[in-house]
Amino acid sequence: MTRPKITIVGAGNVGAQTAFLIATKGLGDLVLIDIDEKAAKGKALDLFESIPLLDHTVSVIGSTDYKLTKDSQIVVVTAGVPRKPGMSREDLIDTNAKIMTTIMSNVVKYSPDCILIIVTNPLDEMVYLAKRLSKFPRQRVLGMAGILDTTRFQAFTAQALEVQPQQVSALVLGGHADAMLPLSSLATVGGVPLATLLSSQKIQELIDRTRKAGGEIVDIMGTSAYYAPAASLTLMIESILTDQKKILPCCAELQGEYDQKGVFIGVPCVLGKKGMESIVEVPLSTEEKTIFTKTIEDIKTRYPLLNKYSSTSFLGKLFKS
Ligand code: APR
Repeated sequence: MTRPKITIVGAGNVGAQTAFLIATKGLGDLVLIDIDEKAAKGKALDLFESIPLLDHTVSVIGSTDYKLTKDSQIVVVTAGVPRKPGMSREDLIDTNAKIMTTIMSNVVKYSPDCILIIVTNPLDEMVYLAKRLSKFPRQRVLGMAGILDTTRFQAFTAQALEVQPQQVSALVLGGHADAMLPLSSLATVGGVPLATLLSSQKIQELIDRTRKAGGEIVDIMGTSAYYAPAASLTLMIESILTDQKKILPCCAELQGEYDQKGVFIGVPCVLGKKGMESIVEVPLSTEEKTIFTKTIEDIKTRYPLLNKYSSTSFLGKLFKS
């Protein structure tokens, strides 16, 4: 039986945890790629040795060699430098953009038909860069952030109400930064609108904590989160590979939706076997629209900086050296 092939570039915290979740669900055969050969090989071997204890059989290999990734259906990119305390996601832009250029050339070469899921921060900008470098259609270039931001809001809300986290339904859109947009008007708990269960002040506190949730973890443990990011990625991969067509908030390119064009931002997407099959437009209040538009304007101001990394002269120099 042929199983889908899933490559994870970056066998660090997020990459390795995602690989483990994929293996536990038996979603596909795994290739872990990292510049740190020992990390890629060691983690792949450890995971391989766990397979007899899991419910599904998948193959796992770790390497620095992109040849092994040939014809992957999905390529997840987590490679990059994570945040240190006091750093914003934007502080990573130059370092991670350079990393992205090398990775994309290899991914496009060996898996020209894959669906890309980018995790590397600053997320909204790195997804845009991945699209420019890969020249893939927008259906096949996605970023993981909205599900992570949403699960954080759900977790904090469930904790405040002392209910089962799975009872909370919510949607966080916008940028993967402090200006993200938790749509509290759409949040429900067991079908009951959140506003009937909590005061507006308490809801605002939950929103504020959600916006800073990534930083909260960086401050506690000195590096960024990985369990919730890995669970979020696995949900996306499962919806794509098993054609579930789940509506999940992901970073995707707007081409007229929300009256915007050519910008990548978090919006509800239908994820199925073709990747991002469509974008769902939800009505935004005037205040929400203002935040959403402002975030887009901010993201766009950083695009010229990224264009340098996809220019012919930059790529020429990079691949000569
Ligand atoms: N090619 C392949 N792998 C690379 C490259 C590269 N050019 N550069 C770095 N890596 C690898 C590192 O060796 C490391 O194993 O990427 C991995 C990143 O793992 P971690 O440092 O553990 O980072 P992680 O917490 O997994 O975060 C991954 O998610 O939140 C974002 O900004 C964060 O970009 C980071 C990503």
